[in-house]
Amino acid sequence: MLAGKNILLIISGGIAAYKSLQLVRLLSKEGAKVVPVMTKSAEQFVTPLSVSALAGESVRTNLFDLEDEAEMGHIELTRAADLVVVAPATAGLMAKMAGGLADDLASTLLLASNKRIMLAPAMNVAMWENPATVRNLKLLREDGRIIVGPDEGEMACGEYGPGRMAEPEVILEAIRSEFADGPMRGKRVLITSGPTHEPIDPVRYIANRSSGLQGTEIAREFVKMGAEVVFVTGPADAERPKGAEVVEVETALEMEAAVNTAGEFDVAVFAAAVADWRVDTVSSGKIKKEAGRPLPKLSFVENPDILKTVSRRQKGRPTLVIGFAAETDDVIENATAKRIRKGCDWILANDVSGDRPVMGGPDNQVVLISENAAETWPWMTKRQVAHALAAKVSEVLE
Ligand code: C5P
Repeated sequence: MLAGKNILLIISGGIAAYKSLQLVRLLSKEGAKVVPVMTKSAEQFVTPLSVSALAGESVRTNLFDLEDEAEMGHIELTRAADLVVVAPATAGLMAKMAGGLADDLASTLLLASNKRIMLAPAMNVAMWENPATVRNLKLLREDGRIIVGPDEGEMACGEYGPGRMAEPEVILEAIRSEFADGPMRGKRVLITSGPTHEPIDPVRYIANRSSGLQGTEIAREFVKMGAEVVFVTGPADAERPKGAEVVEVETALEMEAAVNTAGEFDVAVFAAAVADWRVDTVSSGKIKKEAGRPLPKLSFVENPDILKTVSRRQKGRPTLVIGFAAETDDVIENATAKRIRKGCDWILANDVSGDRPVMGGPDNQVVLISENAAETWPWMTKRQVAHALAAKVSEVLE
């Protein structure tokens, strides 16, 4: 799929730069031409020699390299590329990109590029969570940049959390999906998935049985069809879909914020089992169990209805908004009313009262409710449901 593709790979200075060597190998193995560019600080982590040996191309490092400028200027370098990949993308380089700053070869190329740009952020947890980085990320998303990762885990600095660069195999998959030809190519799809966790105190929370499998399968199908997929997921068991931009959240409020900052979409599928309520005052310390103490009483406030808000957007509403409805009785009737109440285009309704477990199980049986029809689909695996749904969506969008 990548044979003959020209990938301009920008390596910026982070400990994760060593993983880019593996990315170069994987890309070369697929037949892609990798044109490497390194920032000054990247050279502290890996040597240009190892990068160029693996890429079979000389490494560009200097904005004012007369020989290179004569041969191929920086504008030309980006014009020849089919895709620009920044891996690792440091907080500093992301800030430069968000601000349109060009003071070295990497940032100048990024500013001069008229190609799709993919970023694999890598940084310390505190840097990732810093409001400045959060702001920059939002701007980059709005500019249409594709974000892959970061992962959560132990970091080189010994701290734990999000900020670790996505694995090279995952970045490769995202690159492949950029070139995947399919009926959803050029379309942006948002998917919410999984449960939300609503905290009671620092160690306890309220959750539900959603495994996130149905949402994950839907994301996979759209990725396969060539769409650009943003997957906003609560703490779900299901493996994350490769090739999608994954945004991990915990609570309904975080899910709402992630959806609101993810940009505009052609299709939005709300498969998440969002908690309807959250505890109104989350205890900052662990609620103690002590003899003689009255039992704790929880009071709740309603969570925002994300599906309803997006369905009723005045500006930038997706062409197709799809919700789910888990019902225990009068499925079609209730789901039909829900579709109107929420203002979405389709509802996939399922009966969760039977013996066959839908939530957490591998299969699903749905009724697709649209403005003027209710189509009952047979029992299928969640993958088959996802396939049927994605096929129907692409038919409608044509
Ligand atoms: O109202 P109910 O929870 O049955 O609606 C289910 C649908 O609404 C699902 O598509 C779910 O993802 C979405 N939803 C939401 N935000 C909420 C509650 C539900 O997006 N707070």
